[in-house]
Amino acid sequence: MTVKLGVNVDHIATIREARKIREPDPVTAALIAELAGCNGITAHLREDKRHIQDRDIRLLRGTVTTKLNLKIAPTNEMLQFATNVQPDMVTLVPENRQEITTEEGLNVAAKIDDLAKFVMTLKSNDIAVSVFIEPETEQVKAAKKIGADFVEFNTGKYAAACDLGSMQEVDREISAIADMAVLARKYGLRAFAGHGLNYRNIAAIASIEGIEEVNVGHSIVGRSVFVGMEKAVKEMLELLK
Ligand code: PXP
Repeated sequence: MTVKLGVNVDHIATIREARKIREPDPVTAALIAELAGCNGITAHLREDKRHIQDRDIRLLRGTVTTKLNLKIAPTNEMLQFATNVQPDMVTLVPENRQEITTEEGLNVAAKIDDLAKFVMTLKSNDIAVSVFIEPETEQVKAAKKIGADFVEFNTGKYAAACDLGSMQEVDREISAIADMAVLARKYGLRAFAGHGLNYRNIAAIASIEGIEEVNVGHSIVGRSVFVGMEKAVKEMLELLK
């Protein structure tokens, strides 16, 4: 089965916000990514609004025809925004103001009761729910307990191990994700993966049995600067075949 590609357009907004003007527009990038054949658009509305703005998500909701996956921290303000905008899916991620990007998965096991209420509200608004987690048994079990539909495994450690050329660590991360994909399926959860994936390291993750979709942002946006968004997305899709 070909693994689906969700394109994260946050970093188009990062470039725009460097000048606080109107371009480049992540909404235009999303349309081009869709025309190039991606299967979904993802965007992270951070609490500090450092890249994606409310306006972007509202426009994406009106224009994305594949699937809009909104990443948010589990806060009341974000919950209200999500239920108002109605993306197809919400992915709950942890957030730390000091971080450059999301650093680790959400500790779902530590907040079962609060997150279960959060998930219930989203699902009662017809929004599918995913949680971005580390590939760990405790977190997969917790995702099931809170009623999530999907899990997205954090591939950040895998990507870092690839960069360091540490094959032992690479193998360990791949095995952990593969094992947790099996466990997720056993619990009826569908499994995605993302973070730090690029043209060099994506193949091993895409070939893990049970991983349905990968979410990629930085490497596609980085490549698009040189080859254009359409080609950058098509080249990534080629690697997923
Ligand atoms: N998945 C999640 C949950 C994320 O938070 C991010 C980054 O916002 C990504 C995937 C994409 O990561 P990258 O930009 O490293 O490809």
